[in-house]
Amino acid sequence: MLTQDELKTMVGQAALQDVSPGELVGVGTGSTVNKFIDALAGMRERIPGAVSSSEASTLRLRAAGIAVFDCNAVERLSVYVDGADEIDPRGYMVKGGGAALTREKIVAALSERFVCIADQSKLVDTLGRFAVPVEVIPMAARHIIRRFRSLGGVATLRQRDGRPLVTDNGQHIIDVAGLHITDPLALESMANQWPGVVTVGVFAHQKAHICLLATTEGVKTLAFNTP
Ligand code: 5RP
Repeated sequence: MLTQDELKTMVGQAALQDVSPGELVGVGTGSTVNKFIDALAGMRERIPGAVSSSEASTLRLRAAGIAVFDCNAVERLSVYVDGADEIDPRGYMVKGGGAALTREKIVAALSERFVCIADQSKLVDTLGRFAVPVEVIPMAARHIIRRFRSLGGVATLRQRDGRPLVTDNGQHIIDVAGLHITDPLALESMANQWPGVVTVGVFAHQKAHICLLATTEGVKTLAFNTP
């Protein structure tokens, strides 16, 4: 029986198949992506570098000898590789467990293909088992919490060391538990319009094109219809 860490290593290595030599690669954030970065180090001579979705991934990429390019210096990426907290059978995802959701959506938006890398525990029938992260401007936090509560969610301000967590963008994160997300596109569209919301951690408008799913039987490829 493989451990979750071994599954993450397996899928991180498998994602190299989606990296084109000579092209920049978009890199997400999280423990699964860390395995991908470790594997990518082995082909650093064959790619010009990466566009990163967080300070943490930037540090790891640079430590691996991979150049990191500013997002504004890049017009398009052929591929973006990132993990997920949940993915459903349509390729819709919940992301942001690592608080990097805003930059993840930005780098994903530059990319032609979103390759989600995940272990089998992340595949769900319906999104919402994992509390949905929402990045908010601090002065709006209480208001946004109330709005999610009126939808039946249990919304809390994410803490670190007894204080509200501050993201790479200087904002806060609200985690919304108890949502049963049958229409991810509608929820993402609605919450995105609330004043003070920076990014909703539902990735439906920018869903995955494929998911490399690590299982005890090996890595399976799930392909999704494009929106
Ligand atoms: C970070 C993310 C991550 O992709 C997500 O939390 C999955 O992380 P891990 O691979 O550590 O389970 O969205 O903001």
